[in-house]
Amino acid sequence: MQEGMEKFIRLLREKKAIAGGSEKDIATQHGKGRLTARERIELLFDPDSFNEIDSLVVPRYDSYMGGKKSRYGDGCITGFGLVNGRQVFAAAQDASVMGGSLGEMHANKIVKAMRMALQYGCPFVAINDSGGARIQEGVDSLGGYAKIFDANCEASGVIPQISVIMGPCAGGAVYSPGLTDFVFMTDNSYMFITGPEVVKAVMQEEVSFDDLGGGRVHAQASGVSHFLDKDDASCLAHVRELLTFLPSNVQEDPPYREPVDDPERRCTELLDIVPVDPHQPYDVRKVIASISDDGRFFEVHELWAPNLVVALSRLNGYVVGIVANQPQVLAGCIDIKASIKAAHFIRICDAYNIPIVTLQDVPGFLPGRDQEYGGIIRNGARMIYAYSEATVPKLMVILRKSYGGAYCVMSSKGLRGDLLYAWPNAEIAVMGAEGAVNILFREDVKKAADPAARRKELVADYEAKFNTPYIAASRGLIDDIIEPQDTRRALVRGLEMTLSKRERHIPRKHGISPM
Ligand code: HXC
Repeated sequence: MQEGMEKFIRLLREKKAIAGGSEKDIATQHGKGRLTARERIELLFDPDSFNEIDSLVVPRYDSYMGGKKSRYGDGCITGFGLVNGRQVFAAAQDASVMGGSLGEMHANKIVKAMRMALQYGCPFVAINDSGGARIQEGVDSLGGYAKIFDANCEASGVIPQISVIMGPCAGGAVYSPGLTDFVFMTDNSYMFITGPEVVKAVMQEEVSFDDLGGGRVHAQASGVSHFLDKDDASCLAHVRELLTFLPSNVQEDPPYREPVDDPERRCTELLDIVPVDPHQPYDVRKVIASISDDGRFFEVHELWAPNLVVALSRLNGYVVGIVANQPQVLAGCIDIKASIKAAHFIRICDAYNIPIVTLQDVPGFLPGRDQEYGGIIRNGARMIYAYSEATVPKLMVILRKSYGGAYCVMSSKGLRGDLLYAWPNAEIAVMGAEGAVNILFREDVKKAADPAARRKELVADYEAKFNTPYIAASRGLIDDIIEPQDTRRALVRGLEMTLSKRERHIPRKHGISPM
């Protein structure tokens, strides 16, 4: 090294050493069962691939920090690196520096990294662990949030955006995750708009952090979180796995993986998984596993609206999104939550060029006052809009029941479904036989000498005439009736044919999707 250079390098190293929390702050963070931002970054990225940017940023006013010397980096690590060999940008808030609170510079760093991710077409991962708006920086901090939200909106549908909540995420801070495509939470994290003190003051109610907005609450009750993991390490492994299914940006196809599984594999187990008796429940995830490459799939929103399953999977190496009614919960009826869950997932698939495979076994919409008052009309419309708007290939298999409105709203021909199949036991009708006979033949049954026998006869007649897939097939409303064991083969062949699909919308500013 030439003379004189050493002192410059020493100075740089000294400055970079004053980043992140002090040893005491790091110990406190570990004591809470959480990792530091740097440890999280190490786990998210492939070994030794992360490149930090803005590591020497400091807040504008040191005097605001209560006499404390500010740390380089301003409580947030940003940069880029490889995840499974592909470029990804990330920001990780560092709770060991001023509680990870968001000041002006901290926000600027995040926005800069997001805009770079957008510019270079890379996914963006935000790891949240923060006390929210940095109180000392007041409106500069609030303005920083607004810029982050704006960048979230601009990047929406262009690059995958993933939020990971690993500590507190409070107040308006929750809206950046709320604007992103996928939200992960750990058991040791929480999100809320108004904290327990506010709830106590305004509502005179005692609530704990966990009760108000813990990971389980958002994974199971609110649906804000799509994934719940037990700790930081398993959560970041989960994020890495999700990224294997997503393209880097809207211009790319999702990552193809050389298949090992036989595309023509017959799924004979399907002959037994789905009971012929329409009243018998079963777990549709077994059907998804049966048709997917290597029996593997990646479920999204697993704990919320379990009457509908959405998952990413592969068919002969190509990523597909699966939307399936789940007959073992609420008989697979569609309700408000299921509609929202499906609509969100379909829009994600469509945005990122992921073909959609729908597995239908649905008795209809969930009836009742709760659903009507809660706006099943508006919310059910979201699913229709999402299916109609989607220009990716749309394949569908009717496994058993396909009744009423539910038939129309899930990838039907009318919604430009590309290839629709039904199993021979499928029942495609306006409603089930019992209900239909009650409405159509009320007088007939009443007047009969033996009403119960007449009813039975009419039900059997209706079932034979209408509860079959053959009428739909005769009208071309499904493309073929297939034997259950041929489902994987039919889907793989259909998918490979439709991959060349190119469909464009009539130009407009944007549609008015129901909200
Ligand atoms: C500045 C903060 C801070 C904040 C925490 N710290 N939050 N500093 N601004 N918002 C500092 C603490 O002073 C402390 O510094 C260190 O971070 C660790 O915080 P603790 O309180 O010791 O940690 P813990 O006990 O784990 O509690 C975490 C917490 C609590 C629950 C998040 O810190 C808290 O309630 N913070 C305030 C949360 C909040 O109300 N934020 C504003 C939300 S409104 P020392 O020096 O002691 O280590 C908002 C508006 C956004 O965000 C609007 C967007 C549109």
